[in-house]
Amino acid sequence: MDKLAEARRRIEEASRIAVLTGAGISAPSGIPTFRDPGGLWENFNIEDYATPEGFARNPEEVWRWYAWRYKKIREAEPNEAHRLLAELEKKKGDGFLLVTQNIDGLHQRAGSKRVIELHGSIHRARCTACGYRSELPPPEELEIPPRCPKCGAMMRPDVVWFGEPLPPGAFEAALAGFRSADLAMVIGTSALVEPAASLGRYAKHAGAYLIEINPEETPLTPIADLSLRAGAVEGLRALLG
Ligand code: APR
Repeated sequence: MDKLAEARRRIEEASRIAVLTGAGISAPSGIPTFRDPGGLWENFNIEDYATPEGFARNPEEVWRWYAWRYKKIREAEPNEAHRLLAELEKKKGDGFLLVTQNIDGLHQRAGSKRVIELHGSIHRARCTACGYRSELPPPEELEIPPRCPKCGAMMRPDVVWFGEPLPPGAFEAALAGFRSADLAMVIGTSALVEPAASLGRYAKHAGAYLIEINPEETPLTPIADLSLRAGAVEGLRALLG
């Protein structure tokens, strides 16, 4: 049996599936990735835009950058890859876990119900003083920087910057899901940023069948049982269609 047919069969038979996604799954929706040619980190300095120190130095500039991304994301639509994963969740029920590094919320808009957002969400802000969280208003009503409605202090994007802890319990829940999976899929991530990058390895070491979907090779490629050199839409169509 060819590897694609075997992978399709294993997905059909799996009772516990864990999926990790990265920026690549939202690329077909027009959202730029980080490390591809022309990606965000080619044009914006991580230290200035994705660290607490960068935010402390120039909160207005960081907020302008997030407001720009937020507007693009609000105008974007989930793509077929997001939808195919939402359908797989419906089929597998509680045996399906979706973990994402993305902050765009496109999985939820495509119908995914249970999503662990390891790096937070661009749709929320958090008060730098009292920790109060609120959903962002529509982009045209977003003041820069937003002020906390509770205490008046400046708010920050409710996302995880480099050097910051992940949301409490998020990685623990993701790790439990990947360690107990029969089958794991890692889609659209360069597999460079920890701790998310290790989830596929943990699943494999625990005996899961590991599938990767990425047009490029990544550090995970050598240990995957099947690594499809394909986009998320084409790869998921081939596996689930
Ligand atoms: N389908 C699938 N994968 C794609 C597609 C596509 N259409 N287009 C690009 N890719 C792949 C690229 O080959 C690359 O491996 O998506 C990956 C995107 O990698 P990154 O830009 O590094 O994004 P990601 O892995 O999600 O980054 C992880 O780094 O900067 C932080 O917090 C940020 O969550 C992000 C984390």
